[in-house]
Amino acid sequence: MQTLISPSLLAADFMNLKADIDMVNNSDADWFHLDIMDGVFVPNISYGLPLVSQISKIAKKPLDVHLMIIDPDRYIEAFKKAGSDILTVHYEACTHLHRTVQNIHSHGMKAGVSLNPHTPISVLEDIIQDIDLVLLMSVNPGFGGQSFIENTYTKIKKLKALITEKNTDVIIEIDGGVNLETGKKLVEAGADALVAGSFVFNSTNPTQTIAELKQL
Ligand code: DX5
Ligand code: ZN
Repeated sequence: MQTLISPSLLAADFMNLKADIDMVNNSDADWFHLDIMDGVFVPNISYGLPLVSQISKIAKKPLDVHLMIIDPDRYIEAFKKAGSDILTVHYEACTHLHRTVQNIHSHGMKAGVSLNPHTPISVLEDIIQDIDLVLLMSVNPGFGGQSFIENTYTKIKKLKALITEKNTDVIIEIDGGVNLETGKKLVEAGADALVAGSFVFNSTNPTQTIAELKQL
């Protein structure tokens, strides 16, 4: 299977957002990665529901929404209404993660669980069979343009082993510091989906950069 590519609009030009959305629509990308930050779970605030709603009106590909917010249950229905297709919450932000996953599914969305760089794969042992996607953070969440954390490759291998052991089917998505070099090694290690923000939008030809990532 080809690698799924999810460009992160955090690095897009917000003054010309429509142009960047059209670029992604017409590229080899598979999803739109939308980073929602609350200034509490992570030390940064990004954008919220009104913008997601507007994006969903012209996006021709699924919205892969990454919630970096505390108590995400409060907003699951709202993100569904705003057009979210995949809703990913952080393990570290959910006291009743299983209930949160049930809630996401009951709203007809795919459910993802994200792990911070310091959170071990083992915490997924009793939830992996109930989710559709694991988003491994390869930087500390909160900002684009950070450098890649090398331990991610080892975590992918551990996650793959857990998925095999549980005989389940889960998309492994990696977020942070992805470029052609790290991307190649991530795919070799077993990544199914790559998020890329600054590498795509700061490149001279974003469409071509997405095509190159897609070929990894
Ligand atoms: C970081 C976000 C990422 C970010 C990735 O908290 O979750 O999705 O946009 O940006 P790059 O690709 O620049 O590391
Ligand atoms: Zn993200």
